[in-house]
Amino acid sequence: MTTSTPLTQDELKALVGQAALRYVVPGDIVGVGTGSTVNKFIDALATVKDQVRGAVSSSVASTERLRAIGIPVFDANEVEQLGVYIDGADEIDGQGHMVKGGGAALTREKIVAALARQFVCIADESKLVDTLGRFPLPVEVIPMATAHVARRFAALGGQATLRLKDGQPLVTDNGQHILDVTGLSITDPLALESQINQWPGVVTVGIFAHQKAQVCLLGTAQGVKTLTF
Ligand code: 5RP
Repeated sequence: MTTSTPLTQDELKALVGQAALRYVVPGDIVGVGTGSTVNKFIDALATVKDQVRGAVSSSVASTERLRAIGIPVFDANEVEQLGVYIDGADEIDGQGHMVKGGGAALTREKIVAALARQFVCIADESKLVDTLGRFPLPVEVIPMATAHVARRFAALGGQATLRLKDGQPLVTDNGQHILDVTGLSITDPLALESQINQWPGVVTVGIFAHQKAQVCLLGTAQGVKTLTF
């Protein structure tokens, strides 16, 4: 009998990053997300970079990585539509709704996702949940609104914490702050996303239900599973 060592989370991320290449149409501009799983996708993209016209990126960090491997990065305003947007998630449910923003890039991620005909989520199996809300919900806010938005979450039973970096409020690529909200059970992601979007001072809520995934490439012990929604 042969025994094999289970794949590590990092290896599962590499597996789905590689698998995402099959959604990249030669000659197209591809939408590229942010995070450690997407970094594996960018590594894989380096092996076919001559077939890719360029990318629209969702963060300064991904832009730097893409440029480092020689892929031209276009401004989102230069592109009317993308065939595909490839990004990770902090959580994804059985309908393709996601929580995103663990890497603080949620606003640009939602913008690039909105440009794409298809959102392909790449994730290891730890990200698949029955109900969104275990991962603290990231919300990008205008700094003067943080206390007000935190009170609104408290009224819903959530606890909002200002995200810090090196002891100071984290500043996003857009010059804003992030609240991480615990204690929410997101049973109706579409409705909650719409509701929070109405609050003054909220730039972006990390619920991706209106901008959900159409495909999820899930890294599992049995290999890459393709979920479609
Ligand atoms: C960044 C994101 C990422 O997609 C999310 O945090 C998952 O990251 P990782 O692939 O590192 O687990 O939304 O804002």
